[in-house]
Amino acid sequence: MGLDDFKENQEKKVIDTTRKVRIGFIGCGWIAESHMRALLNQPDVEIVAGADLIPGKAAKFFEKFGVEGVKTDYASHKELLADKSLNLDAVTICTYNRQHAQPAIDSLNAGLHVLLEKPFTVTLDEAVAVMKAEKASGKILSIGFQPRMDANMKMIKKIVESGALGQIYYIQTGGGRRRGIPTPYGTTFIEDKTAGIGALGDIGCYSLDMVLNAIGYPKPLTVSGYKSNFFGTDPNYSDYVHKNHPEYAKLFGVDDFAAAFIRLEGGIILDFRIAWAMNLDTPGDTIIMGTKGSLRIPSTECWNGTVGGPMVLYHEVCGEQTQTEIPIIKMKEGLFDLKIRTFLDAIKENGTAPVPSSQILYNQAIIDGIAKSAEAGREVEIVIPEI
Ligand SMILES: NC(=O)c1ccc[n+]([C@@H]2O[C@H](COP(=O)([O-])OP(=O)(O)OC[C@H]3O[C@@H](n4cnc5c(N)ncnc54)[C@H](O)[C@@H]3O)[C@@H](O)[C@H]2O)c1
Repeated sequence: MGLDDFKENQEKKVIDTTRKVRIGFIGCGWIAESHMRALLNQPDVEIVAGADLIPGKAAKFFEKFGVEGVKTDYASHKELLADKSLNLDAVTICTYNRQHAQPAIDSLNAGLHVLLEKPFTVTLDEAVAVMKAEKASGKILSIGFQPRMDANMKMIKKIVESGALGQIYYIQTGGGRRRGIPTPYGTTFIEDKTAGIGALGDIGCYSLDMVLNAIGYPKPLTVSGYKSNFFGTDPNYSDYVHKNHPEYAKLFGVDDFAAAFIRLEGGIILDFRIAWAMNLDTPGDTIIMGTKGSLRIPSTECWNGTVGGPMVLYHEVCGEQTQTEIPIIKMKEGLFDLKIRTFLDAIKENGTAPVPSSQILYNQAIIDGIAKSAEAGREVEIVIPEI
């Protein structure tokens, strides 16, 4: 046993298995599978119910994972929430974007803790409505940003907080895929009626969280945004052709590229771009520029909010320009396991949300501002209502 193993064992938490958290699923699609795998790794969970709008889907989902004794005969999340025999503590909401706000509001109003998948919502108004329900309920609402659990992401925040960058004045963030419009099991990511926002909400929210969390989530003030959909609406888009689904082009109702210039409180400029598809390898690494140092965070090929390689800190030592490489930290635990575990711990310890809505509200305000600015064709002010 090495020193690291010793340290890890010292830090390992003892989980009270006598107190189980009773959980229900709202939405039993693709990402619900990752929630399920992570929940099954926890010793203090009872999965008691699941609802999906598609008849029979919830039952099949639990069958696939061999989870027995789960009630699934609900036509929607409302019926599940009305079933008081379940004695639920919490729900995990794994519905498509347009069905984030209402199930979250209804679950909080039912007195349940909520783990809500990202993006928070589609619009800022929806996020505000969810937060009003959260405030009235006094329950925990955590938003599903699992990259937050990544030790490399935590390192970015530590570097900023150490003062090594000095005063931060300019940030470039974003990422993207050359060909990566997500249609794994159908079109819920690309249709307006289910997704509401495209690359901007799906992966853009991660890029924004990476840097905003690191710098303490300053308030966004104004935004000049742009959105396009050249690839998604093209029936000859290579992935549609390979999958033999040219009709996806007609169904495509969201953005596949977005860019923005955002002013944040404290005089910080945030330059952002995100792509589900583009004729380029990457729209650039994330950079955080400060008066004492700057940090380069390599992007990944298939941007999903993780660090793509060793980060580099550019700074001066004794008046000489130098670079320090920050090696990638390998994680032993899966990010979804940590996302679920931190949520459970917060419930059991009367703690606070691991990824609080009060922070992600600003993330959502930027996404909303980009959509509004793109529509208006000019810079807009970001106005966040009182909660
Ligand atoms: N954290 C991550 O890494 C990650 C990865 C993929 C997707 N997601 C997010 O997860 C969400 C779901 O994505 P997905 O790929 O699983 O979608 P999906 O379409 O595969 O599954 C969503 C399911 O929710 C059901 N549903 C919708 N509204 C409902 C309601 N009111 N009550 C009950 N069921 C309802 C749908 O019928 C569908 O089966 C999206 O918001 C997406 O952004 C997160």
